[in-house]
Amino acid sequence: MDLIIRRAKLRKKNGLFDIGIKNGIFAAVEPNLEATAVHEINALENLAIPPFIDPHLHLDAVLTVGNPRYNESGTLLEGIEIWGDHKASVTKESIKKNADKVIKWLIANGTLKIRTHADTTDPSLITVEALVEVKKAWRNQVDIQIVAFPQDGIFTRPDSAKLMQRAVEIGADVIGGIPHHEITSQDGIKDVEFAFELARKHNCLVDIHVDETGDDQSRFIEVMAKQTLVHEMQGQVAASHATAMHNYNNDYALKLMGILKRSGINVITNPFDNSVLQNRTDGYPRKRGHARVDELLTHGINVCIGHDSIMDPWYPLGKGSMLQAANLLLHTAHMSGYHQISQLFDMITDHSAKTLCVEDDYGIQIGKPADMVILDARDEMQAIRLISECLYVIRRGAIISQTTPAKRKITLNGRQECIDFK
Ligand code: FE2
Repeated sequence: MDLIIRRAKLRKKNGLFDIGIKNGIFAAVEPNLEATAVHEINALENLAIPPFIDPHLHLDAVLTVGNPRYNESGTLLEGIEIWGDHKASVTKESIKKNADKVIKWLIANGTLKIRTHADTTDPSLITVEALVEVKKAWRNQVDIQIVAFPQDGIFTRPDSAKLMQRAVEIGADVIGGIPHHEITSQDGIKDVEFAFELARKHNCLVDIHVDETGDDQSRFIEVMAKQTLVHEMQGQVAASHATAMHNYNNDYALKLMGILKRSGINVITNPFDNSVLQNRTDGYPRKRGHARVDELLTHGINVCIGHDSIMDPWYPLGKGSMLQAANLLLHTAHMSGYHQISQLFDMITDHSAKTLCVEDDYGIQIGKPADMVILDARDEMQAIRLISECLYVIRRGAIISQTTPAKRKITLNGRQECIDFK
């Protein structure tokens, strides 16, 4: 073996396991592996997992918070307005520089697969070009999918459709949309139909920003479900945000659950942005503005968690931690039950792999690419509670990130004691 990780815990399995890696592939996963390797890591009974996945990120906007101004209202609309002003001064180099920096943060936080959106509404398309170059530059460390994302809508300006087509030719892998941002409901329906037709033409996946509003009349997700069935794209489509669902009446929501299940749509919820952007017009009481995560899961619909923003006009904080996103969703989606904490962990790993259609290359199993993370945590609850460090991040059998957790010493009655919150 080239590398052996010993005494690791694995999710949903009892006991401890040794994990052997050869030529960048998992070659053995068993207790007390007899083989030896030049490099061995003692996992010390910590949890070994496949890498985290961020299925929804805007890499072209990261680290732009405050430029040219802060989003004082906290609304999606002011965020889009600020981003529009920022785009006037953006350069390909500045996008790449910010994306590179954040990708390093994501790696250190154990994320090795990313789906990023790239704004296609500026005629220069430098956002798309920049992220295509970023994808290529990082291909040995991180797998990146790029969504052609019409931030300002398809039918709000004359050339938006052509720019989407051009974005695919440049290298976008997934087709996006933003129906709730079109001027009329009819245009919103056309926005969704356009995305599916373009995806079919180029054999792409679909991932649409849909119903990202508190408006309970925003129901474009049902159009997505219908289009998925019409184009027979079950499993290849993601509905991002779908926050209006929070405010739907319960009769419609129940009908919708059945439709979503039948269409095999994946739902991506984004706790950071959704919690600050949605239901801003409520006054009091304030609703929470998330998709109905627990109901969707109960109905057998695949739901995963995205980070969405990292320090941009829509969300001013963030450090690229999927564990932190799961921690937040636990609170805002009322998912504190014991089995729900395991579900939250699924939503930043396996569920996202399903959404990105990368399951064949994902997981700690013999024959799959040796991508994994050893957490500074014994189980999922500890990892989400502590937002644990990633002690080792391994890509194709090579250690690409190592973290030494902070040491805290308290002194009581002249005696020192180390505290790690475990
Ligand atoms: Fe988004």
